[in-house]
Amino acid sequence: MKGFVRAALAAVRPVDVLPSPNIWQWPEVYEVENRAQDVDGVIWQVLREACDWTGKDVVDVGCGDGFHLPVFAREARQVTGVEPHPPLVHRARARVADLPNVSAVAGPAQRLPLPDGSADLVHARTAYFFGPGCEPGLREADRVLRPGGTLAIVDLDGTAEPYGPWLCAGEPRYNPADVEDFFTAQGFVLRRVRAVWRFETRQDLEAVLRIEFSAEIAERAIAQTPGLSFEVGYRVHIRHKPSGLLLP
Ligand SMILES: C[S@@+](CC[C@H](N)C(=O)[O-])C[C@H]1O[C@@H](n2cnc3c(N)ncnc32)[C@H](O)[C@@H]1O
Repeated sequence: MKGFVRAALAAVRPVDVLPSPNIWQWPEVYEVENRAQDVDGVIWQVLREACDWTGKDVVDVGCGDGFHLPVFAREARQVTGVEPHPPLVHRARARVADLPNVSAVAGPAQRLPLPDGSADLVHARTAYFFGPGCEPGLREADRVLRPGGTLAIVDLDGTAEPYGPWLCAGEPRYNPADVEDFFTAQGFVLRRVRAVWRFETRQDLEAVLRIEFSAEIAERAIAQTPGLSFEVGYRVHIRHKPSGLLLP
């Protein structure tokens, strides 16, 4: 094994990585899910208001197989996807192979393989930053951001019907209020967003709900969801790194 490959693999310790059965086990179904999510682009709109990445350097932490990288790449100067699960790093690299301003690297949020002060926007979507416990990743994002840069964390809103209650039913220890309090205490501003998930077929909609929830909750969600679309609430947590000295 070549030295740099061994070093890259050693940098990702399994203990750092939060299992994501949906995209790890069913990447093709997760692709369908990503295409269905936010069909009207309301999350993108909130992100753009927080930080216009035109001509800027963007990092996507926990980028999975890189679904969002090409979107940033349309206007960004450079986009770097960081992902700890090796099969997804390979998939992300294949996705962006023709995009000269995008790369995908192996690493966890706790140890980003990137230089200090090298990014203007650090984005993470439904990855790692789930509330208390993600402080090491917050510190890393701050290290990698330039002064004035933005950290934007997109996650599901456990308080928003109908998806939130399905989410919470599967995770009884998950308390959405605690998560929101955590990010507020860390200095983030919260924007709530309601996005529409719209599918091409009923089969796709049901397959996605089945990779997201236990069999029991998935069947309940399917029964409560006629048609091809439903709304999903998101939290977008935004924090800007101070751009100068803070005087007392
Ligand atoms: C639900 S997927 C979302 C992927 C991608 N952000 C998207 O929206 O398509 C969560 C991702 O977080 C990754 N992940 C798990 N532990 C992580 C960590 N410690 N740091 C960064 N990413 C992590 C998983 O491997 C997975 O790719």
